[in-house]
Order: sequence, then structure tokens, then C-alpha cells
Amino acid sequence: SRRILSGIQASGALHLGNYLGALKRFTQLQDAGAPCFLFVADLHAITVWQEPEKLAAQTREIAAAYLASGLDPARSVIFPQSAVRAHAELAWVFNCVARLGWLDRMTQFKEKSGKHKERASVGLYTYPVLQAADILVYKATEVPTGEDQKQHLELTRDIAQKFNNDFGVPGFFPIPDPVIQGPAPRVMSLRDGQAKMSKSDPSDLSRINLTDDADTIAAKVRKAKTDPEPLPETMEELEGRSEAKNLVTLYAALSDQTKEAVLAEFAGQGFGAFKPKLAEVAVAAMAPVTAEMRRLMADPAEIDRVLADGAERASAVADPVVDEVKRIVGFWRA
Ligand code: TYM
Repeated sequence: SRRILSGIQASGALHLGNYLGALKRFTQLQDAGAPCFLFVADLHAITVWQEPEKLAAQTREIAAAYLASGLDPARSVIFPQSAVRAHAELAWVFNCVARLGWLDRMTQFKEKSGKHKERASVGLYTYPVLQAADILVYKATEVPTGEDQKQHLELTRDIAQKFNNDFGVPGFFPIPDPVIQGPAPRVMSLRDGQAKMSKSDPSDLSRINLTDDADTIAAKVRKAKTDPEPLPETMEELEGRSEAKNLVTLYAALSDQTKEAVLAEFAGQGFGAFKPKLAEVAVAAMAPVTAEMRRLMADPAEIDRVLADGAERASAVADPVVDEVKRIVGFWRA
């Protein structure tokens, strides 16, 4: 049977890429009737330094974003990763299944560790192994994410396969399908059509944050990099115009239209006309989410109830899987 799982790191502000590539997609899957497990990846967050006095608030903020985007705690299980011990326990076993050569190929580690790899935390290196544990400890079948998680999801499949083979338990872990779909699996920076929108970009103008107000959103869209050509009639004609293509993609995703429909409306017009309209649809789509996040964050009691209840429901699924794994691996038990 279907089981959907995904996570978002508890490391600071969410942006439009997270919203369109992940949050909005989760809500669509939930509303289509799929059982969803969604967590706040706080164990992953500490692979780079996080101020201890801020971490819990960051966790609540992601939980607020889940709720504000339309996830319903009665139907979906929403929880903090660190509150379910099974993740870390399974990750250790998987550290002994995954090969160094596999991790050496991970491009995200190379990007995040930068020039001084020897100063990166060991956790940052083994990050994708924990991600595999997150997914497989629920025997998840589908993992919706943005494009940037593709390599990690392939590694998860390799780990599942190797565990099943090594221990002679075919099918014990299902081989989960990456679900990298939707209209905007890779939202690009507003300043550079070749770079993805990311919270680590030093320029705040490169992204629209979920907490930006209407004026800020309008200003960022106005300053977004474009080209002097008017919008064409077809998507093919946007090839090679990465910034223009990104803005059309954003308009389509934010207004729930196809890109073709957007071009049909704006073909022949320049960005001077298009940008204010884009800002309008961005504000219209995000303002209710932002307002609900603010409301939830003002009194964290509701969020805390959701997270505590979610942790209990998640543990009830994950703990028996780890118990099975311990038996399969051959650990002592009385
Ligand atoms: P994180 O916190 O970086 O991002 C959360 C989600 O947002 C998506 N995303 C984007 N989608 C479209 N365009 C963008 N520019 C963009 N930027 C981010 C990400 O793909 C992701 O879906 N490793 C994960 C967290 C994680 C996880 C997991 C996910 C931990 N364990 C298990 C799935 C399953 C991460 O860093 O996401």
C-alpha cells in the first residue's frame, strides 16, 4: 500500500522553492487521499551549526508552514525527526550498509562542504544515510521532493537494495519511488537563472521568503533578472532564456495554470508589464499561508500538540521496523 514521506530541514527561513517544490505538493498528495508522514529534519539541521536556543523555534516554524500550507494533522502525521528515536538507530545500521564510494559521489556534500572539506562535520558527510533511514524506517513507497534531492533518493534505493540482499530479506524494505513532479520541481534564483533558489544564497533578493510581506515580494519581483525580449508564444522559444523561463514557471505554478496558458495571455508583452502581474499572483498565493503561519507561531501550544501527537503516531510505525531490523542484523535480545 502507498505511504508518502518527506521532510524539510529545521534550518531557517523557507522560500518559494520549498513552497512550490515541496509544501504545496504534499498538500495535493494528502488531499488526493494518500497517507502522508511529514517531519521536521532537526537531526539533519545540526550537520551545520545551529544555535541551540533557536533550534526548537525553527522546528516549530517548519511545523507551522506544514499546517499553514494545508496539511491536516488528523490525516497526515507531522513530527520532529529527533523525537522519533528510530531514525537515528536505523541510520547507524545504514552507515554500515552504505559504501564510502557511494557517499563520495554526493554532489550536495561537495557543495555544502566547500573548499575546506576537512572542516565539515562527519554528520554532513553521512547526511544522505540518515535521509535513507528517515524514508525506510516507515517503509515509505513515495518520496515527494524538489529536484535537488534526486541523488539522495537514488542512494536511498541503493541502501534498501543492499540491505535486502546482504541480509537475505528480499522485499523487506520497499524500493521507494522519488516523486519529483509538479509544475516547479526546481525553482531558480531571481538573480541567476542557472542557480536554484536556496536559503544559503547570500543575496536575499535571490529568493522570496515565506515570511516576506507584499511590498517585499513586489520589490524582489521588480528587481528580478530578466532579458529585454518580450514573452514569446511557446515554451520552446524560451529555451536559453533561463530567467524568463523561471518567471513564467513561477506564474504558472502560483496561479495553477499551465505555462502555455500563461504565454497565451502574455505573449508579446515585456517584463515591465509581466512582473507586476507576477507579484500579484505571488502575493495572492502566499499571503494566506504567511498569515496562518504568523497566527500559529503566536501561540505555539497548538503546534506543540500536533508535534507531540505526530511523534507518537510516527514512533508506533517506526519502532517495530527497527525491532525487525535488529533481529535481521542479529543483535542480542533476551
Ligand atoms: P530542504 O529542507 O533543503 O528542502 C525542503 C524541500 O524543498 C525542496 N526545495 C526546492 N524545490 C524546488 N525548487 C527549489 N529551489 C527548492 N529548494 C528546496 C527540496 O527538494 C525539499 O523537497 N534533505 C532534505 C530534507 C530531508 C528529506 C528526508 C526529504 C531529510 N530527510 C527524507 C525527503 C525524505 C532537505 O535538505 O530539504
